Amino acid sequence: MTLPVLPSERAYLGFGLGLRPTHYETILNQSAPIDWLEIISENYLVPGGKPLHYLDRIRERYPLAMHGVSLSIGSSDPLDREYLKQLKALATRIEPAWISDHLCWTGVNGVNAHDLLPLAYTEETLKHVVARVNQAQDFLGRRILLENVSSYVTYLESEMSEWEFISEIAQRADCLILLDINNIYVSSFNHEFDPRTYLNAIPVERVQQFHLAGHRHHGNYIIDTHDEAIVDPVWDLYKTALRRFGKVSTMIERDDNIPPLSELLGELQQACEIARNILSPSIVSAV
Ligand SMILES: [Fe+2]
Repeated sequence: MTLPVLPSERAYLGFGLGLRPTHYETILNQSAPIDWLEIISENYLVPGGKPLHYLDRIRERYPLAMHGVSLSIGSSDPLDREYLKQLKALATRIEPAWISDHLCWTGVNGVNAHDLLPLAYTEETLKHVVARVNQAQDFLGRRILLENVSSYVTYLESEMSEWEFISEIAQRADCLILLDINNIYVSSFNHEFDPRTYLNAIPVERVQQFHLAGHRHHGNYIIDTHDEAIVDPVWDLYKTALRRFGKVSTMIERDDNIPPLSELLGELQQACEIARNILSPSIVSAV
């Protein structure tokens, strides 16, 4: 399938949060000042029930993006056609602005590692992943976004840096990038590289979305836990990213130790203020 030419101006949704079940009622009852919401696709791949009921109601008020964790684009197992079918059906139902997953593998030989594992950055892996992104995009009939994951190990076999690898994937597979600013920070600390080198290598026109999140610092390593507030060094890296990439839809991920919605709205306001200061006071946002 030939995808339409990449638009000169990227789609822009503004400032969003991850939709979590504890906030369903608050979001609906308070018409929360959020521009858009990102859902975990796997939570809604069922034929009915409470989550879909809420999702339909929330969709009436907010743009949505679908974010998955099960594509396992780097695995040597065949792509899961049943999973792709379910994703496509959900996309038909809620018409998301885009669909994303991670540049990783999550298992092999049918065994699920329940983790987003990094790949070996080799030419062989590149070709393998590009072919699979093409398959997924053909099936879904649209470009997908791939997100950089946090990592705690590297492979002796790697022939290039992570930033070279993800950039090559995006160019060769004609897909988009979900740049997780926190993940870059976490990996840069764990593997001792300069996160600005990473940002500066990423093709600007391929970046469709940013993630921001908190993590746990253990002294000589960082674990990407998504259970804390965003820390100052990640805010600083967000500023650097805005200067390079411009207006990019930004979303805050909180997956554990989930606070009241008001606390996350405070963080979202902070992101919005930073973007206004760096880009333009009139930056589009409902926040
Ligand atoms: Fe993320």
